[in-house]
Amino acid sequence: MIKGVIAIDGPAGAGKSTVARLVAKEMGYTYLDTGAMYRAITDKVIRSGTSLLAADEIGKIAEETSFKLHKPNGDYILLVDDVDVSERLRSPEVNKSVSVVAENERVRMALVAIQRELAKQGEVVLDGRDIGSFVLPDAQWKFFLDASIEERAKRRYEELVEKGYQVSYAEVVEEVKVRDRKDSTRALAPLKRADDATLIDTSNLEIMEVVDAIVSICRQGA
Ligand code: DC
Repeated sequence: MIKGVIAIDGPAGAGKSTVARLVAKEMGYTYLDTGAMYRAITDKVIRSGTSLLAADEIGKIAEETSFKLHKPNGDYILLVDDVDVSERLRSPEVNKSVSVVAENERVRMALVAIQRELAKQGEVVLDGRDIGSFVLPDAQWKFFLDASIEERAKRRYEELVEKGYQVSYAEVVEEVKVRDRKDSTRALAPLKRADDATLIDTSNLEIMEVVDAIVSICRQGA
């Protein structure tokens, strides 16, 4: 078992990133948003004009990308090639293409290696799709957050509108459904609840209720 490692998985919009960031803060642990890593590679692919069909080129981009965690004001920021690109990572363009990039075997191998290396340090929270089932099956604590499709789409929609993107709720529902399907049916490390992960349905819970539930389980077992 890898002590001091918290894996939080679940589908798009289940609240993982917000919850995981707060859990890390409460526990005093490092936080890594692995979805942001796949999004960062997707952003680089789009910006470099690389075709989504060019699997080798996409793999090479991932292998040549550096990731660093930076903590300027008590919050972890992921630096991609030494730059904070967080603002770009949740755009509709990235949302649309990220599942294709995340299917790329070389991309996954490159990113999973970095995630495993970080976990060796301990005292870390990682959130994603395959952390408990594939990246770190020996993590001390595993959680799987889920919520109804309507609730998950509503959260994504509100996030996009708040950022000033022009999208309709119906479009977001469709996008979340497509991403769910792609994430759960891909051949390599699909979205899947590990048998020993604690399932939390966040549909009717406040963020802090989810955070408190996770922190209290982790503190009991520490
Ligand atoms: O959690 P998110 O929406 O930021 O994730 C973006 C995409 O990255 C998601 O569609 C699937 C992929 N992903 C993955 O395949 N494995 C992970 N560990 C994290 C994310």
